[in-house]
Amino acid sequence: MKRFRGRVAVVTGAASGIGRALAERFAAEGMKVVLADIDPPALEAAAGELAERGADVRAVPVDVTQASDVEALADQTLRAFGAVHVVCNNAGVFAGGLSWEAPLRDYEWVIGVNLWGVIHGVRTFVPILLEQNSEGHVVNTASMAGLTTLPYASIYHMSKHAVLAYSECLHHELALRGSRIRVSALCPEAVATRIDACERHRPPRFRAAADRRDPSPERELVESALSKAVETGIAPGAIAERVLAAIRDERFYILSDDAWRDSCHARLEDIRAGRNPSFAPPVARDHADGAST
Ligand SMILES: NC(=O)c1ccc[n+]([C@@H]2O[C@H](COP(=O)([O-])OP(=O)(O)OC[C@H]3O[C@@H](n4cnc5c(N)ncnc54)[C@H](O)[C@@H]3O)[C@@H](O)[C@H]2O)c1
Repeated sequence: MKRFRGRVAVVTGAASGIGRALAERFAAEGMKVVLADIDPPALEAAAGELAERGADVRAVPVDVTQASDVEALADQTLRAFGAVHVVCNNAGVFAGGLSWEAPLRDYEWVIGVNLWGVIHGVRTFVPILLEQNSEGHVVNTASMAGLTTLPYASIYHMSKHAVLAYSECLHHELALRGSRIRVSALCPEAVATRIDACERHRPPRFRAAADRRDPSPERELVESALSKAVETGIAPGAIAERVLAAIRDERFYILSDDAWRDSCHARLEDIRAGRNPSFAPPVARDHADGAST
């Protein structure tokens, strides 16, 4: 897609971090933007700031784990702007710990937001994009964690590997249909956002009783590594810039070029050689720090 002005973007997880930066970047290109998030006050603040700068925006409270919420988001988008061109399935959360100690609720929450949120976005918006028969682009937020595996973050890695595989399959399906809809998988390294405070919006149905929480020191270790990685992560605006360029260039993979790539290559080499998985955490350069983001 080369032309952005006047076109419509929908972004989930738009009240904070990468989603907010995407909304700002799209608005700066003259797009109409629908911001969706589970956090209404932060959502209103983000949308209000963009509106003050003259952007044509809407704010829609959404829990992406709920298909009906995402369908309502599409309805409101079409009612407000009559069309949709760019869909960023971006909302995401993190929970760490040992695979066998993590409560089921952690699995349900992380997979519910990170994977089911993307599934609902695809199942709701792709038929609309196909029906419009205009240019369109779906951006699914995975992570460099979707190309690597590290201990104490299996739920997150698993959810992001699934998003990447799902996005690649979607890319094939749309290409084989000769569709004008393009797909990208966004795979950032550590980014300076509030993902390390994502517990703030965990819905009650996904909360484990306090005594059911993973008590392992490994959980604390990975959560503090995440906070450190986020503190020194790159600015969300730089990620938004990459996304815009990828949409323009019709590029599927939006990857980091830091130490996370080395971890990814080490994994691919192991697979190619039929070796057991190496433990290859990203070795800190400028921004990466070893937490699985
Ligand atoms: N920050 C990083 O280092 C990093 C790296 C790679 C990938 N990512 C991915 O980027 C995406 C955005 O995360 P971020 O880092 O900007 O974090 P963030 O916490 O700053 O923003 C995430 C937003 O998603 C919203 N959200 C959470 N649950 C939701 C739900 N059920 N429905 C709707 N909205 C919901 C939150 O309220 C928040 O506004 C996530 O998918 C994350 O996994 C982040």
